[in-house]
Amino acid sequence: MNLFDVYPLNDVTIVKAKGSYVWDDKGEQYLDLYGGHAVISIGHTHPYWVKQIEEQLEKIAFYSNSVRIPLQQQLADKLGKISGKNDYQLFLCNSGAEANENALKMASFHNGRKKIIAFSKSFHGRTSLSVAVTDNKNYIAPVNETDNVIFLPFNDEEALESCFAKQGKEISSVIIEGIQGVGGINVAQESFLKKIRSLCDKHGAVYIADSVQCGFGRSGKFFSHDFAGVNADIYTMAKGMGNGFPVAGLIIAPHIKPKHFQLGTTFGGNQLACAAALAVCQVIEDEKLMGNAVMVGKYLRDELASIPQLRNVRGRGLMIGFDVPEDLKDLKKNLLWNQKTFTGESKPNIIRLLPSLALKRRDAEAFIESLKEEIAVLTGEEVSN
Ligand SMILES: Cc1ncc(COP(=O)(O)O)c(C=O)c1O
Repeated sequence: MNLFDVYPLNDVTIVKAKGSYVWDDKGEQYLDLYGGHAVISIGHTHPYWVKQIEEQLEKIAFYSNSVRIPLQQQLADKLGKISGKNDYQLFLCNSGAEANENALKMASFHNGRKKIIAFSKSFHGRTSLSVAVTDNKNYIAPVNETDNVIFLPFNDEEALESCFAKQGKEISSVIIEGIQGVGGINVAQESFLKKIRSLCDKHGAVYIADSVQCGFGRSGKFFSHDFAGVNADIYTMAKGMGNGFPVAGLIIAPHIKPKHFQLGTTFGGNQLACAAALAVCQVIEDEKLMGNAVMVGKYLRDELASIPQLRNVRGRGLMIGFDVPEDLKDLKKNLLWNQKTFTGESKPNIIRLLPSLALKRRDAEAFIESLKEEIAVLTGEEVSN
């Protein structure tokens, strides 16, 4: 049987990983500044995370949500503490798309409305509602087409205000990434997030903060939306939550009340997934990884901004993007093959850095050196700064 060929692949097989490094089947070591697509939060195969999962596996891996699972409450308590949202309610599921799907559904159950506001360059996942609020026609199958979604320009307060002025009574929710990931590392302005909050309050809509990529400490705050100093009604999370173990969730403000059977999942919140997510939270706290993301992220952004060939360096913490001019279009490829360094990208010409939050300063320094080397090879100029 063939694999269903939907992923363009790099010709490399990763067989081992530790911290910010991975190794291929020929024993070659790579620096991982891609974090397996922003998934690796505490570092590959962190020993505490491995131990907690192993110990849980010896006890019980899975039982369904028809019985009490105290690990879920432990995780809720931990997440309340680490995010500062103690009074929110946790629902656990399996992927970012599912978290957003449930958030959008919950908003609609809550206010009985149908329309959703989403933004240009958004990416929220591949399931039916989450793909409908994703700004990429290529991902939307005919069956997912809907006129319930209104796309507005990102960070455009006037467009948002005028949409609410016209259709405020119909708007169920507004969904926004605090920092757009797939869209190219675009930071939502604090004033824009405040405007979303106040318009949602005024019109009875639900503010959904998609924190699947920018959450779990990656920005230096637990949720990047919190830089704006206002709370969302629902935060969704996945990727960094399990450090590679599939686990996702949404936390829901106390005024949104649950009803039995409104949401559900077979696998979500299983014992093994909870053990993985609990271990991630513990390591983020113990190793002060959000502080590390701030420091190493600042170092990287400052260094990148001083390289004249790169444009528009942006992001927060260890979620960083920059534009690459046409003559450097092979930079990402050359970093991988010549410098053995994984980075992420956004089309057409953006490099994205999404490393583990435990990235060491010396690894960041080594990356800047290899980047300068590859720029010099491609341009024929020494990179000075
Ligand atoms: C912001 C955002 N939301 C949702 C998703 C979908 O997550 P998943 O692939 O786990 O379904 C992604 C994945 O890249 C994402 O970046």
